[in-house]
Amino acid sequence: NIGAGRFLPARLSLPALREAARSCEGCDLYRNATQTVFGAGMTHATYMLVGEQPGDQEDRQGAPFVGPAGRILDKGLAEAGIDRESVYVTNAVKHFKFELRGKRRIHQRPSAAEIDACRPWLDAEMRLVDPVVTVVLGATAARALLGPGFRVTRERGRPVPRREGAFYVATIHPSAILRAPDQDEAYEGFLEDLKAAAALGP
Ligand code: URA
Ligand code: SF4
Repeated sequence: NIGAGRFLPARLSLPALREAARSCEGCDLYRNATQTVFGAGMTHATYMLVGEQPGDQEDRQGAPFVGPAGRILDKGLAEAGIDRESVYVTNAVKHFKFELRGKRRIHQRPSAAEIDACRPWLDAEMRLVDPVVTVVLGATAARALLGPGFRVTRERGRPVPRREGAFYVATIHPSAILRAPDQDEAYEGFLEDLKAAAALGP
């Protein structure tokens, strides 16, 4: 893992970053994935949502949160009153990590080293979008943005200061709702956290 740093463009803009990220070889994940899935949305979005890594659908389509997890996220945003147009969506890791089981590609968690390798992209996105509220979706995004000591289960739904007037709010990953024994309960908790995030916006 040489890290993504050396692949960053000299002049930072979201289009330049997106273009440069296409040929990132900062860790081994680019080898088996279809393409880099970079963040999407408005440059100065009020809300930034940070997930784990692209899933199977995202890897094929080249856009974040367009699969099953994305449908839950969209529903939650709508119900929390967050306009999808005011949002920038991205992931902590930009390539899909999976294990082949027959023809199926099974999601695998990115390692700490892969999260660290990919973080220059996320840091640059954070700097350029500079959102008022950053919604941290699950443990991987929390590790990247809030460090390894942060516990989503304990600190979810609470504003964590990022800079003057800007906050992080952590919640569970939308995919975790799909795996929860009680999906309705998991979704309600997720929605509550999104509403707490929405309340911090203008
Ligand atoms: N899960 C994520 O964390 N990100 C995506 O883009 C899709 C699924
Ligand atoms: Fe580069 Fe991130 Fe892809 Fe690794 S996962 S190759 S660091 S874009």
